Amino acid sequence: MSARLNLLSPEVRANPYPFFAELRRTAPVSQVEPAGMWAVSRYAEALTVLKNPQLFFSAGMAALMTPPWLGRGNPSVNSILFMDPPQHGRLRALVSRAFNASALNRLEPRIRDFATSLVKALPADGGVDFVSAFALPLPASVIGELLGLDPSLHSRFKRWSNDLVSVSAVPPEDVAMQTRVRQSLDEMEHHMKEVLEDRRRQPREDMVSDLLRAQVEGERLTEEELVGFLVLLLSGGLETTMHLLAQAARVFIEEPGVLARLRAEPSRIPAFIEEVLRYEPPIHLTIRQTTQEVELGGARLPKGALVAVLLGSVNHDEAQFPQGDRFDMDQPGTQNLSFGHGIHFCLGAQLARLEARLGLEALLARFGSVERGEAPEEWSPSMMVRGLSSLPVRLREG
Ligand code: HEM
Repeated sequence: MSARLNLLSPEVRANPYPFFAELRRTAPVSQVEPAGMWAVSRYAEALTVLKNPQLFFSAGMAALMTPPWLGRGNPSVNSILFMDPPQHGRLRALVSRAFNASALNRLEPRIRDFATSLVKALPADGGVDFVSAFALPLPASVIGELLGLDPSLHSRFKRWSNDLVSVSAVPPEDVAMQTRVRQSLDEMEHHMKEVLEDRRRQPREDMVSDLLRAQVEGERLTEEELVGFLVLLLSGGLETTMHLLAQAARVFIEEPGVLARLRAEPSRIPAFIEEVLRYEPPIHLTIRQTTQEVELGGARLPKGALVAVLLGSVNHDEAQFPQGDRFDMDQPGTQNLSFGHGIHFCLGAQLARLEARLGLEALLARFGSVERGEAPEEWSPSMMVRGLSSLPVRLREG
């Protein structure tokens, strides 16, 4: 490949997989645009990066998330996603306490209720945008419940989370967008602080109260760390799960036999969810920075290089998944990297799987087919996250 691949070009955005296959074949670790990042496209090198935070660190990303025009701190950079050992381990141990099996057990009946009432509200034999009617409100309700936020705020979550994710990509001349992003961060921070204050006064049986109680070797989370974690949960748990659910519906459209099979064998729903995650991972790339000069996959990366691990590519790597470009829920369960790997492995993976399973169970209990709607589908413009921002469908009861 002569010219550098541009991950933001319309052709790559439309269908990145043939470009990724070419990278894996000819230049598995090589510079791409934007920003001359070093793209890692094969499974083996991706594991090396994700397993070695001492060589490929995460804190370098904090500067990208706090551009000068912001004029304030970005609460999300006080979260574990942007931390490295030993600070990451200390904080992860504290927050994992609150994010455990009993937190999930508490949530399960609520998730089932949310899913059932959303499915009930879908039109019988009518057209609807699957994303706004189901794939977005389900995780929004779950995150709202998890964080104890007022349900009247749910409609703002998507804007908050979008604005937070777009901080690093706002053009310096787009003052209107900058004002909007600042306002979203202010609102988010304000509401998270209110919830914390409320739970301090009146602890409940919920995750925020657990977080306030959490202690490891006498240490507690600071106010900034608490706010940072809550903000990370909102942005990390919303769009990702939304894209997973929307992709599942897209598979039902493209491969109608799959839906009928899952209705006949609901125990296969978890395997189906794993294959949707592998085939079209909601987080398409994650970034690290080198702490020193490093040799990787035949390339020499300088100190301070930005490294983009292309999760969308490594999940299709033929060395790991022989039929990588085909959707096949019977594909033997080799580990996909959709939830990352190593110390930053997604803390919400079990929650996301649970939401997807309960959501699909409710959907399949009522509908016997999902067909493409009249309007065209739309894809998210983000580079990090790949997924549908709208998916018009026609649902048929059966
Ligand atoms: C980290 C994917 C849902 C919370 C991550 C990472 C990935 C990921 C790839 C690692 C990023 C890196 O290494 O740089 C996903 C996907 C989801 C999902 C695909 C849904 C399908 C959730 C949910 C939550 C959540 C529902 C919580 C409500 C987190 C947190 C981290 C994380 C807290 C940071 C962990 C750390 O840095 O130690 N996620 N996620 N995620 N995710 Fe998720």
